Amino acid sequence: MSTRRTVLKSLALSSLALPAMNVFGEPAPELPNPNDPDYWKKIRDSFMLSKDKVFFNTGTVGAMPKVVVQKVAEHFQKLAADVADWDYKTDIGWISGYYPMPDIRKKIAQLINADAPSIALTDNVTSAMSYIALGLELNRGDEVLTSNQEHGGGRSSWMVREKREGIKYRETVLPKPIRSNDEVLSIIRNALAPETKVLMLSHMLTGSGAILPVKEICAEAKARGIITVLDGAQTIGQINVDVAAIGCDAYVGCFHKWMGAPPGTGFMWVRPELIKTLWTTVSSYQWNNREDEGFRFTQRGTGNYSVMIGMDAALDFHNEVGPQRVYDRIKFLGSYLRDGLRKMPKVKIFSPADEAMCAGITVYNVAGLTGARLQDEFWNRGRMRPRSQGDEFGVRHCTHIYNSEQELDKALGIVNALAG
Ligand SMILES: Cc1ncc(COP(=O)(O)O)c(C=O)c1O
Repeated sequence: MSTRRTVLKSLALSSLALPAMNVFGEPAPELPNPNDPDYWKKIRDSFMLSKDKVFFNTGTVGAMPKVVVQKVAEHFQKLAADVADWDYKTDIGWISGYYPMPDIRKKIAQLINADAPSIALTDNVTSAMSYIALGLELNRGDEVLTSNQEHGGGRSSWMVREKREGIKYRETVLPKPIRSNDEVLSIIRNALAPETKVLMLSHMLTGSGAILPVKEICAEAKARGIITVLDGAQTIGQINVDVAAIGCDAYVGCFHKWMGAPPGTGFMWVRPELIKTLWTTVSSYQWNNREDEGFRFTQRGTGNYSVMIGMDAALDFHNEVGPQRVYDRIKFLGSYLRDGLRKMPKVKIFSPADEAMCAGITVYNVAGLTGARLQDEFWNRGRMRPRSQGDEFGVRHCTHIYNSEQELDKALGIVNALAG
């Protein structure tokens, strides 16, 4: 882990000492011992989030640990000052988008229990999903089935194919709130049609936080020869993802939400046999590399290596805290919030009532309020930032490891006052 001394040294060595380096504040602390009673308070101190505001919008973009910002800034500094050192004989360390970056891809593969060569680095979920949707061999009349609760970044590239090539795009309606795994399973089962060739769904729905029974859904689709593509924008860094156990054909995700990596970091994984058949959408020299399929997609032109360093640091931070510990904490705080909300009769919760289908996303509204109003009330009364979900669905309130019970007590107090 970088120390203040190394940061200052790199500053001193640089001819372009940027004032932005001051954002580091104190050096990133060593991680506390998990037995420490102040463990989570100390983890909170590993983040740069201002203490005079409360952040509940990880579902849009997460807060980065200090060490991530430090690594990104150090590399940016190096690029700005010392790019002349790059002799083009060594292939990595200055820009991304041209090199296979096997170590980072391996780290991602370990996180989701996949094979590294079938992992490609992307800028986000939208580009990962576009590479899959635009790259799959599909014929006019083939159907892509999805739900009515998908994010635009998950569904839109399939709609492009509908308009351009006559692929059929269909949304099946999922309720909000979803009542049970069986309910979802039966809706999807009934929606699958003989012409369905692809089933694309979120692993965790963005507008309710419902974790879908993807293993059972994928088994059902597989039995009918349907390709399954899962959108993991809200899962990576939050809940355990094991693509082998799920049995899906493709999985996309990003690191800038729950993983605390810089914005502009994502990936796609496509089953080895299937990725061989996938056309590249953004193409460069490696477009036809049949040895390293993930590299074909990872090579997408000059990119920001500094954010790759930050992503790597975020993955290390996550692994050091421990994915299970992160999940347990997120889940504990999410349940704490939902338990409090359930005691308020005027509050309607749109996340599933079945706690097994929830983790750190809770969507709810107070009778008579819009989401915009509720969002503003949170800010005006407590400098708290959940995110509006429009007129009907209130706010999406995310809990992460940098949040606390005290913050949730205060948030519940605000809701109670509004619902009173
Ligand atoms: C389910 C889902 N899919 C896709 C996206 C888009 O992600 P990105 O901005 O990484 O492309 C989001 C963002 O909120 C999302 O929640």
